[in-house]
Amino acid sequence: MDRDFSKTRLFMFTLALVFFTSACENASDNRATVASTGEAPSDSNVKASAEEKIKIGFSMDTLEEERWLRDRDLFKEAVEKLGAEVEIMAANEDDAKQILQAETLISQGVDLLVLVPNNAEATATIVNKAHLAGIKVVSYDRLVKNAEIDLYISFDNEQVGELQAKAITKLVPKGRYVLIGGASTDYNAHLLKKGVFNVLQPYIDRGDITVVYDQWTENWTPTNAYKNMVAALKASNNQIDAVIAANDATAGGAIEALEAYGLAGEIPVSGQDAELAAAQRIVSGTQQMTVYKPLNILAEKAAELAVKMAKGDNIVADRKINNGKIEVPSVLLAPIAVDKNNLDETIIKDGFHSRGDVYTLDY
Ligand code: BGC
Repeated sequence: MDRDFSKTRLFMFTLALVFFTSACENASDNRATVASTGEAPSDSNVKASAEEKIKIGFSMDTLEEERWLRDRDLFKEAVEKLGAEVEIMAANEDDAKQILQAETLISQGVDLLVLVPNNAEATATIVNKAHLAGIKVVSYDRLVKNAEIDLYISFDNEQVGELQAKAITKLVPKGRYVLIGGASTDYNAHLLKKGVFNVLQPYIDRGDITVVYDQWTENWTPTNAYKNMVAALKASNNQIDAVIAANDATAGGAIEALEAYGLAGEIPVSGQDAELAAAQRIVSGTQQMTVYKPLNILAEKAAELAVKMAKGDNIVADRKINNGKIEVPSVLLAPIAVDKNNLDETIIKDGFHSRGDVYTLDY
């Protein structure tokens, strides 16, 4: 009877041990998953092995402009070269869509999120959600405002505005200026405008330059820029001497409007991005300058830092930018002014565009 009892006890103990051990294994699996993804564990998102690739989520605003297609491809290539992988989503300038897409990336268990915000303020919620899941967020090209973003990497956007205004004031030191701004929801548009006024203000104070029109362009679209330019022409009775357009898309819209009024080529226009169409307009003389931002440097640096951060390594950022909530560790790259005199030694030399493409419309 005693022997039977201890046999039963041994059996019960063994059973309990097996149960306890397997419960512990499950619990530690769960913990690892929660730490890396913030999600309830499922077979599909439990990391198979320590060697599994780092996965970066890239949440983009739009692929409508030439530059963002390049950013997408260059970033993907750079991440893959580092042995990691990337999942990319683009939101077609729709805040709600971008938030949903970012949530999907977070729930897919990406190790780090790289974000090009459509709306600098609305995307703060993405940063908070990612952080709750233990995922760091990098602000790519555009700054997310009022959120504890982990890193901001971009070109110096204030300097982009300064380069534009310096080039145009050299050509038109006195006169009536039109400012076709970027999207007010994009903080870059504000930084650019600050840069433009850093240069214009002394001229304005001396009474040499008057800003006769100054408007934002919703979503940075050529159509909205066209409308702005027409409004500027109407309001000033066509008495305009120079146009500072925030990028090449808006410059394109503004130049179309000038064409409609028979003024294209008569009035200097600036832009940024070194889009092919802008380079061609520089050759044909309807746009005076653009600002070239070597996107390969941005994409490669962003990929390098993102993969390091995803691995938990420390990174070095040389600047701090206040985004309304914190001093964000920032890396700011140098933009380059391009006009007809240095097209060859900048964008063509770098292979950004081929010589044949740039000079196709040579008049
Ligand atoms: C970028 C520009 C771009 C614009 C419109 C800005 O945030 O810095 O390069 O042209 O967005 O997409």
